[in-house]
Amino acid sequence: MRPGQAIIDVGGGTSRLADGLLEAGLGPLSVLDLSARALERSQARLGKRADDITWINANITRWIPPQTYRFWHDRAVFHFLTRPQQRAAYVANLRAGLAPGGHVLIWTFADDGPEKCSGLPVQRCSPQALAAELDRHAPGILEPVSSERHDHVTPMGKVQRFQGSLFRRL
Ligand SMILES: C[S@@+](CC[C@H](N)C(=O)[O-])C[C@H]1O[C@@H](n2cnc3c(N)ncnc32)[C@H](O)[C@@H]1O
Repeated sequence: MRPGQAIIDVGGGTSRLADGLLEAGLGPLSVLDLSARALERSQARLGKRADDITWINANITRWIPPQTYRFWHDRAVFHFLTRPQQRAAYVANLRAGLAPGGHVLIWTFADDGPEKCSGLPVQRCSPQALAAELDRHAPGILEPVSSERHDHVTPMGKVQRFQGSLFRRL
C-alpha cells in the first residue's frame, strides 16, 4: 500500500488496526461497523487522530459504497453472515467498493475453528470454501493471492483458529 490509497476496515469495531495504519501514514482510512458504540470507543481511544478517519455506522450488507477502496480488510465479519442472501449482499458491495487491482483480506474462523463468535453462530471457512463462495456471488472477479492460518488467543486464553485469505480484484 502507498499513502493516498483508500483503505476500509469493515467491521473494524474497537480494533487497533486503524491506529497502526494512521501511524504508518496510510489511507485515507474508513472504518465501518454496525455498532455505533464500538466506533465511539475507537474514536475515544484515538482522540484527535479520530478526525483523520471516516467513520461509517452501517450494516455492510445494506450499505452502498460511496467510493472505491484499494484495500478492504475484514476480520471476523463475513463469518457472521450465515444466510446466503447476506453473503450475496456483502459480495455485491465488495464488488462495487473494491477498485480494480485492489486487494481484499478476509479473516474468518477456520473450518476447524469455533462454531460461535461473540455467542453468535458463524459460517466457518477453509480458504478454498471462502474462494468458492466469493466466486459464486461474483464470478471471475477475485483472484486468490494467498492464505494463511492464524491461532488467535483470546484474553480468556482460548485459542480461536482463523484463516485469512487475500484476493486481488481483477
Ligand atoms: C468479532 S468483532 C471483530 C472486530 C475487529 N474486526 C477485530 O478484528 O478486532 C466483529 C465486528 O463486526 C461488527 N459487525 C458484525 N456484523 C456486521 C455487519 N453486518 N456490518 C457491519 N459490522 C458488523 C461487529 O459490530 C463487531 O464490531
